[in-house]
Amino acid sequence: MTDRSDDFTMAYQDTCDQITMVLIHGFPLDSAMWEMQLQDLSDVVRLVAPDLRGHGRSDSVPGPYSMKMFSDDIAGLLEHLNIHSPVLVCGLSMGGYIALDFYRRYPDHVAGLILAATRAGADSEEGKTGREAAAAAVKAEGTGPIVAGMLPKLLAPGSYEDGELVEFVQEIMEGASVEGVIGALAAMRDRPDSMPMLADIDVPTLIIHGAEDQIIPVSEAEAMYEAIEDAELVIIPDAGHLPNLEQVDSFNDAVIDFIEELTGEEDLDHENGHHHH
Ligand code: MLT
Repeated sequence: MTDRSDDFTMAYQDTCDQITMVLIHGFPLDSAMWEMQLQDLSDVVRLVAPDLRGHGRSDSVPGPYSMKMFSDDIAGLLEHLNIHSPVLVCGLSMGGYIALDFYRRYPDHVAGLILAATRAGADSEEGKTGREAAAAAVKAEGTGPIVAGMLPKLLAPGSYEDGELVEFVQEIMEGASVEGVIGALAAMRDRPDSMPMLADIDVPTLIIHGAEDQIIPVSEAEAMYEAIEDAELVIIPDAGHLPNLEQVDSFNDAVIDFIEELTGEEDLDHENGHHHH
């Protein structure tokens, strides 16, 4: 890169040259769930992993939240970071709902999408009722019951035997605030159906799904794959709803391949010392 100052052209290297990837966490998690991506992918992309409002170390503002708020929060963060070129948006589960909403509102900000363990459709009536019951339970008893009920379903049976991983995920979930959880439940309940928009997505899209996802079935990933023109589908064996944590190498390799194709750069992984298997 060069910059013309008054009397000479200065060349410089700046790792912020890399395309930015925004990592949007799922419910009721926070950016800590991206630990293994922050660790392994930072040579290949600039990574920005926000804690959504009410989650992690972000302020626990009262709800209800909406997908629009989450999208606007992310656009505001990019503005704050002075990132004006289009970014890769990678969202897992609820993060995928937000990624699709962000694309709807800010298509010019998006260079590519990674939709992990997610779906494009809205909640069914039954699903909406479930969100309300969950919010009422959290209001009455705190987040404990939700965490306890969700944890075994988040991981594939094989990953659930990994005590360290279970504890890691549990700790993140236990950090979720009552306001954040209730706010996010409302945002998910009210999210629009993104299925009709899929045909209009004109950026490269990588869909990643765990073969053993017990929260969102693989058929949802396949439906998105059918509907998005420039899409790739990677189904990861022995992974449930958190494939980025359960099968780190498979997940990261799929992402690196996708970024290489997107940026047209060969052997990014090689140059950066990352090894394929
Ligand atoms: C998530 O994992 O983000 C949520 O469970 C998704 C959902 O409840 O729809």
